[in-house]
Amino acid sequence: MKVAFIGAGVMGEAMIAALLRQSTTSPGEVSAYDIDQARLIFIENKYKVNCASDITKAVSDCDTVVLSVKPQVLAKVMNNLKGVLKEGQLVLSIIAGASTDTIGKGLQHDKVIRVMPNTPAQVGQGMSVWTATSAVSQAQKETAQKILSAMGKELYISEEKYIDMATAISGSGPAYIFLIMEALTDAAVHIGLPRKMAEELVSQTVLGSAYMSRETGKHPAELKNMVTSPGGTTAEGLLCLEEGGVRAILAQAVIAAYEKAQRLGGQSSK
Ligand SMILES: NC(=O)c1ccc[n+]([C@@H]2O[C@H](COP(=O)([O-])OP(=O)(O)OC[C@H]3O[C@@H](n4cnc5c(N)ncnc54)[C@H](OP(=O)(O)O)[C@@H]3O)[C@@H](O)[C@H]2O)c1
Repeated sequence: MKVAFIGAGVMGEAMIAALLRQSTTSPGEVSAYDIDQARLIFIENKYKVNCASDITKAVSDCDTVVLSVKPQVLAKVMNNLKGVLKEGQLVLSIIAGASTDTIGKGLQHDKVIRVMPNTPAQVGQGMSVWTATSAVSQAQKETAQKILSAMGKELYISEEKYIDMATAISGSGPAYIFLIMEALTDAAVHIGLPRKMAEELVSQTVLGSAYMSRETGKHPAELKNMVTSPGGTTAEGLLCLEEGGVRAILAQAVIAAYEKAQRLGGQSSK
């Protein structure tokens, strides 16, 4: 499976690392192009993949072109690739907000897969939500599935409108969870726990809660009630969270991220 990466930043590297870790492909079958030369040299040295000096060379011999640049530079990248791609090549974009329509028109290419991955892909625990244009073949969808499952879980959806929504939940979600983890750790230190111990307690609590939810399949409210004894300590803590408007603030954060993803979609088509 020959894959070219345009943009080898945080997510591009996470994908390259996952593909090689899972032996989905070999270093010789991966090429990368990034405008940042130092970054490219770092990627070449670390993963022994082929790093190309220009964008057309990077994509010339691959089956799949992964677009992993920031939304703000997509228009420029599409201009550079317009008319360069071959009929049978698959374009797989992970760019937030950029629709398959924008990418298809910008590249004058009809085989486009749009994915919203997330950073836990770096440790094989990612969540990738994806969709494909009607011109993408079954074999190309299977290729996409192989690439994405190397990074964790993948979920195909036929309706593209869900991608911007997934961006606000699973795409941005790790940052929300990390912020909560940081705040809980600081709070633990505030009441007197040593920081190392606090970090261990918080990370295992988040991990354990996620596992418990997945393994039991129970509703979060039921799992929450299991921890909450009448008149107990958890009830006191929960009351503070509710008084602080934690549900409303989370809803506002998700709505803001969703609206931003939609606005970025507008910008990346220009
Ligand atoms: N990070 C996440 O959690 C996450 C999650 C889901 C989706 N995404 C999407 O993934 C994409 C990449 O995000 P990222 O976090 O990996 O960004 P990033 O770390 O900034 O990586 C993008 C790379 O592309 C390079 N670049 C800029 N202009 C270029 C050009 N014209 N041609 C080739 N390379 C160019 C950048 O170089 P410079 O640094 O020199 O500009 C940078 O090395 C974004 O579109 C984002 O929406 C990210």
